[in-house]
Amino acid sequence: MTTRVLTGITTSGTPHLGNYVGAVRPAIAASHAADAESFYFLADLHSLIKAQDPARTQRSTLEIAATWLAAGLEPDKVWFYRQSDVPEISELTWFLTCVAGKGILNRAHAYKAAVDKNTAEGEDADAGITAGLFMYPVLMAADILLFNAHQVPVGRDQIQHIEMARDFGQRFNHVYGRDYFTLPEALIDDHVATLPGLDGRKMSKSYGNTIPLFAKPAELKKLIFSILTDSRAPGEPKDTEGSPLFQLYQAFATPEETAAFAQAYADGIGWGDAKQQLFDRVERDIAPLRERYETLVARPDRIEEILRDGAARLRAKYATPFLRELREAVGLRDLSAAAATAPKAVAKAALPVFKQYREADGRFYFKLSDAQGTVLVQSQGFDSPRDAGQLVAALKNAETADQMETPQISLLVPAEVVLAALAALREAAAAS
Ligand code: TRP
Repeated sequence: MTTRVLTGITTSGTPHLGNYVGAVRPAIAASHAADAESFYFLADLHSLIKAQDPARTQRSTLEIAATWLAAGLEPDKVWFYRQSDVPEISELTWFLTCVAGKGILNRAHAYKAAVDKNTAEGEDADAGITAGLFMYPVLMAADILLFNAHQVPVGRDQIQHIEMARDFGQRFNHVYGRDYFTLPEALIDDHVATLPGLDGRKMSKSYGNTIPLFAKPAELKKLIFSILTDSRAPGEPKDTEGSPLFQLYQAFATPEETAAFAQAYADGIGWGDAKQQLFDRVERDIAPLRERYETLVARPDRIEEILRDGAARLRAKYATPFLRELREAVGLRDLSAAAATAPKAVAKAALPVFKQYREADGRFYFKLSDAQGTVLVQSQGFDSPRDAGQLVAALKNAETADQMETPQISLLVPAEVVLAALAALREAAAAS
């Protein structure tokens, strides 16, 4: 069986060198592995959580699609599509929403960080937080589970989301009684470099220290020449350790080139020369991509067609038939096929039950009966339903005959029978 590998790309912002080295390049290299069926999609529904400027959303989707194609993604060899072109993802999101524990979502890092920030600022805990942010992990789970992906290459910050996808998938499988979903694994590649930005911190849009991937050569050069360096003069040996310039070079160069660059550092290369070498090296890799990128962006209709075609084939092959099966599973069914079959008595009917009730004497009672209606335990009368309820709760946890010993109840069958019934109840509760 081939391994299905799936990755989503959030369509926000303009790709920078850090995205290229950390995400695009390794993912495309992996897509050439023969034994994998790869899924790459533009997570445009996710992008709406943060970006609510329609023109920018459209532009960013175009730029990111063009970037992946320019970098060598082959849309006839891998699945390349736009999330919003696959409506089954949204439908599955709702099915999963209905089995997802709200408490689990409360613990999602991104949501918790937003709550913590509000709390620290003395605001209402949920101030300014949309339900979209809260539901982010469910939408992501639908992305993954719809295609029964085995592996999801992600950064460490996304591991929790993959765990949640497993959890929601497992709950669905359990509730609907079959392994509909494959449980995905996060695939973490610790070797991919995080690239430093202009100021030496991690290259990131939020630090404003990025180099756009497809900056024109003159701008690329200007940005590279603005990279922070120390004040050592030409002729003085330089440290490769902690030099952002060196790390950037290394991310593009072969080991031999890197060794030669390190030697140049030791020999006291001037920063101007080092920057020129870095520019030349990056430009050598990026120039052909930039050319393809510009051609692609100039023909947005072609990109549109590629994406639509990808989604149409993918829906026909996987999403539409699978959703049909899932609709059936949850009971969104063709009514004409329901015939006269009343719902089958499910396993629940075989379980013992506690019943609480009030008698003509005005007092509150309970009893425990088995599936056939045989009464196993009968209580005396209590003044309040609360007192009766408390004893029921205590009884539910009883695991030994001693723990059931109280004058307020009578066992009508041997203690072992009652204990077995209580154990069955607990097991059923734990499984649901
Ligand atoms: N949340 C991911 C990110 O920010 C993007 C994403 C959306 C994703 N859906 C996905 C990644 C499904 C992997 C699988 O990077």
